[in-house]
Amino acid sequence: MDLFERLSPPPRILMGPGPITAYPRVLQAMGNQLIGQYDPVMTGYMNQTMALYRSVFKTNNQATVLVDGTARAGIEAVLVSLIEPGDKVLVPVFGRFGHLLAEISERAGADVVTFEVEWGTVVTDSMLEQQIIRHKPKVLALVQGDTSTTMLQPLDGAGELCKKHGVLFYSDATASIVGNEFEADEWQLDAVSVGLQKCLGGPSGSAPVTLSEKAVEEIRQRKHIEAGIRTDDHRVGQRSRIRSNYFDLGMILDYWGDERLNHHTEATSMLFAARECAQLNLEEGLDCVIERHKRAGDALAAGLKAMGLSLFGDLTHKMNNVVGVVIPSYVDGEAVRQAMLSQFNIEIGTSFGPLHGKIWRIGTMGYNARLDTVLLTLVALEALLVQSGGAIKQGAAYQSAIERYQTGK
Ligand SMILES: Cc1ncc(COP(=O)(O)O)c(C=O)c1O
Repeated sequence: MDLFERLSPPPRILMGPGPITAYPRVLQAMGNQLIGQYDPVMTGYMNQTMALYRSVFKTNNQATVLVDGTARAGIEAVLVSLIEPGDKVLVPVFGRFGHLLAEISERAGADVVTFEVEWGTVVTDSMLEQQIIRHKPKVLALVQGDTSTTMLQPLDGAGELCKKHGVLFYSDATASIVGNEFEADEWQLDAVSVGLQKCLGGPSGSAPVTLSEKAVEEIRQRKHIEAGIRTDDHRVGQRSRIRSNYFDLGMILDYWGDERLNHHTEATSMLFAARECAQLNLEEGLDCVIERHKRAGDALAAGLKAMGLSLFGDLTHKMNNVVGVVIPSYVDGEAVRQAMLSQFNIEIGTSFGPLHGKIWRIGTMGYNARLDTVLLTLVALEALLVQSGGAIKQGAAYQSAIERYQTGK
């Protein structure tokens, strides 16, 4: 057969809702040669990665590991490991990813109760408490940042409610971690999962997960050890076996723990990436990283408004790292997105469900949470809108974005 040209992807600037342009250091880390999975250097890196992600999640949870796979692998691992068939799971839905948590819970055999609020808004603590009292779920599964709507769900009150009512509290913080405040222990979370491809600044393919002692206890009651590696000294759990082998967090914990019981073969290059993402964010300092995301996000929003564009949703709950822009009626939204890509090498996002065709989503995440990327995006978008006949005061977006970035006001 004819072979293809050598890989040579174009130098895109990824300004969508994720994936984003990776930090060069992360790509370099991934280029390191492989080592064996029980090499003491490798198990040392695994332990370091656990420690680094405890700091990223702000937790003391010993059970802080990587699940190999994209962010939804982390979601699936948590839910299939916590949920036994028939368990009730409460999933508030304020965007696409609430629907995903509900679907994965259903597939794990849960009796799922959802309640939906309008896209562009978030759920209040009193709504949550009402639903918890009414349905008495075993697990509350709540997205923190939903990129489909750009909303950031407050989590600080939900942990207290869950504790009061004896509910396990899980959050998917994939899109929000390190771009927005996150406190696993202070907010009393029992399980959290994320991915690398948003503000952490890496490629998709590794899902850091943390579990409280209470969550680990639940999972231990379903402990299973594969035939072939099980010994007479092993004890299995009394409750039903977790329905997935790959996503059995009990087995994954045994692989990451002292016993190093064989499970999957750890995805070494992704571990290098995950370790580097955590390391570089912690070197910069989480508060500084969050502040940088806020400054870049606010500068972008200020520039878009100065162009006369409307921003989507309840802006008091907008994530720092992504904004929804109402597509003006005088343009074809897809044609503008395509022109941004083909003429400027800048990718911005389309949208899903009820927002499809109505908003673009523009992200400022990780490596691209910077003033220069914000300015390039604004200048390119302005040029295309002017070309389409938009009555735009040229240069105003650039000026507003710089002022906003520099003064923070
Ligand atoms: C909040 C949230 N959860 C889950 C996912 C799914 O992640 P993945 O595509 O890595 O499986 C995404 C991706 O956009 C997301 O934003």
